[in-house]
Amino acid sequence: MPMKPILTIPDFMPLSAEQRAWLQGYYAGMAMQAEMSVSAGAGLSSFAVDILIGTQTGNAEGLAEEMAMTLGGAGAQARMHQLDDVEMDALAEMENVLVIASTYGEGEMPDNAHLFWEALEAE
Ligand SMILES: Cc1cc2nc3c(=O)[nH]c(=O)nc-3n(C[C@H](O)[C@H](O)[C@H](O)COP(=O)(O)O)c2cc1C
Repeated sequence: MPMKPILTIPDFMPLSAEQRAWLQGYYAGMAMQAEMSVSAGAGLSSFAVDILIGTQTGNAEGLAEEMAMTLGGAGAQARMHQLDDVEMDALAEMENVLVIASTYGEGEMPDNAHLFWEALEAE
């Protein structure tokens, strides 16, 4: 589906170059969002996303569930996995991967991510 032309800002508008650039970007974002909501449902039907979750107390999992619902509502297939359940062979087969993980202390990973990280780091 062709993109609709993005609204241009008339030259006579009393804007600085920076303001003009910001507004142009804002319009572009609005146009893209509108385009995505029109194509949702049909456009994403062959799109699959694997959501990998790293969580200690469940917040990341809650976010992942929301994301899966949003993707599902747009016609995509979303599959959720706990990070430690993901084998490297399976990871290699995944086309689109979204990792949602919390951090603790000095940016440390949650407990259910350690095995995944070790496997990822291994040769
Ligand atoms: C003891 C403790 C340490 C934390 N340390 C960090 C941190 O270093 N950096 C950070 O961004 N968030 C930190 N947080 C915030 C958690 O990442 C945040 O609560 C997150 O939502 C937890 O998600 P989860 O329930 O999926 O594990 C910390 C939270 C706790 C309770």
